[in-house]
Amino acid sequence: EQARQIQQTLAEFRLSKTQLLEVKKRMKVEIERGLKKESHKEATVKMLPTFVRSTPDGTENGDFLALDLGGTNFRVLLVKIRSGKRRTVEMHNKIYAIPIEVMQGTGEELFDHIVHCISDFLDYMGMKSARLPLGFTFSFPCHQTSLDAGILVTWTKGFKATDCEGEDVVELLRDAIKRKEEFELDVVAIVNDTVGTMMTCAYEDPTCEVGLIAGTGSNACYMEEMKNIEIVDGKEGRMCVNMEWGAFGDNGCLDDIRTKYDQAVDENSLNEGKQRYEKMCSGMYLGEIVRQILIDLTKRGFLFRGQISETLKTRGIFETKFLSQIESDRLALLQVRAILQQLGLDSTCDDSIIVKEVCGTVSRRAAQICGAGMAAVVDKIRENRGLDHLDVTVGVDGTLYKLHPHFSRIFHQTVKDLAPKCDVNFLLSEDGSGKGAALITAVGCRQRELDA
Ligand code: BG6
Ligand code: GLC
Repeated sequence: EQARQIQQTLAEFRLSKTQLLEVKKRMKVEIERGLKKESHKEATVKMLPTFVRSTPDGTENGDFLALDLGGTNFRVLLVKIRSGKRRTVEMHNKIYAIPIEVMQGTGEELFDHIVHCISDFLDYMGMKSARLPLGFTFSFPCHQTSLDAGILVTWTKGFKATDCEGEDVVELLRDAIKRKEEFELDVVAIVNDTVGTMMTCAYEDPTCEVGLIAGTGSNACYMEEMKNIEIVDGKEGRMCVNMEWGAFGDNGCLDDIRTKYDQAVDENSLNEGKQRYEKMCSGMYLGEIVRQILIDLTKRGFLFRGQISETLKTRGIFETKFLSQIESDRLALLQVRAILQQLGLDSTCDDSIIVKEVCGTVSRRAAQICGAGMAAVVDKIRENRGLDHLDVTVGVDGTLYKLHPHFSRIFHQTVKDLAPKCDVNFLLSEDGSGKGAALITAVGCRQRELDA
């Protein structure tokens, strides 16, 4: 009886192919809404123009600084790109911590902290006086009117610094550099991490025209036809669009598949009601869904001898790396228990079996709905080009995709099942999105010289 009730709880997370096709179809509807002039303002999937009009062509050249803010790590990078017969990219980088008080303090504190880290990096590299061009990977939704202007629409994930939403973050960065009065930099481009990842991968493989992040957050970008991007002037060629698909469902269109556990995660978050799709499929939230289910099962007396410990009440305990360990096939149940123990949860052998099944069910649904979104994207590209069959490469990054033992496989399988007319090749970004940001900066610098 207990087993049956647990299965009943988990059944809601097990989506049929029909349901997944429905998710794909709804994503398609939201994509169109975001691209059209008359509906883009209300659209949840914002389809933000990036002003990146082509993937790298190998002629990019120069030394660039890059910042990479918004994922697990904040990095400052120096990227040296050499074009010509023997193309090379040399990268140096340093990771810096952003304390939670700074992520959720004032905008000025956040940008002062960023500039402080740049200063430290320039000292470390012995380059204080160089006045390098800089590409800023900023992994949040921005309204761009050019390569070097981006108004923050809203914070997502774990950030909530004041006085930034509605502001041009390039200006916020420039102002902070001025306040410091130590060095000069030329901020040339603001880049979403999906776009940076696509460009990083496209440097190796020119058929890469889509970028995906399955990490702390979830998002994708792709090369869209200019004529379809109604809010940007011009009809020729293509432009990369940052979809901001994490907000899919914010108009209620996924309510039929959202569970009460998804709602609880949403209510406990920094941005209630927002990023509903992201909250079902990205690393920052999967552990929270698991935790909500475990709390419920414990309350009903099916787990942990009915005792809800302080640990279980703690937000964020199940980080992606723990879920990944718990779900690893190589681990014996005893080891699962050891991990739970490490987290402060005393489990019996039966408990550990249930916990592992809960984790597996939640991450499978995540991979599947993420796959349904991707199926909509590649089919859209195929239809744009009037093709019966499309070959395309997707550049991918993110801790969930990289660390989780099953996510990528289930995700790939779902894309294959739901977009049978597309042959999709997935290419893992080895260099993060900073390299892509530097490539975009190189193109931006060249364009400036032409315009001058
Ligand atoms: C990295 C990028 O490679 O992937 C980051 O350089 C990005 O900017 C990240 O945000 C996504 O992964 P995660 O899991 O760290 O959020
Ligand atoms: C969030 C951000 C988005 C980013 C994604 C992955 O969804 O809003 O801009 O690409 O996380 O980091």
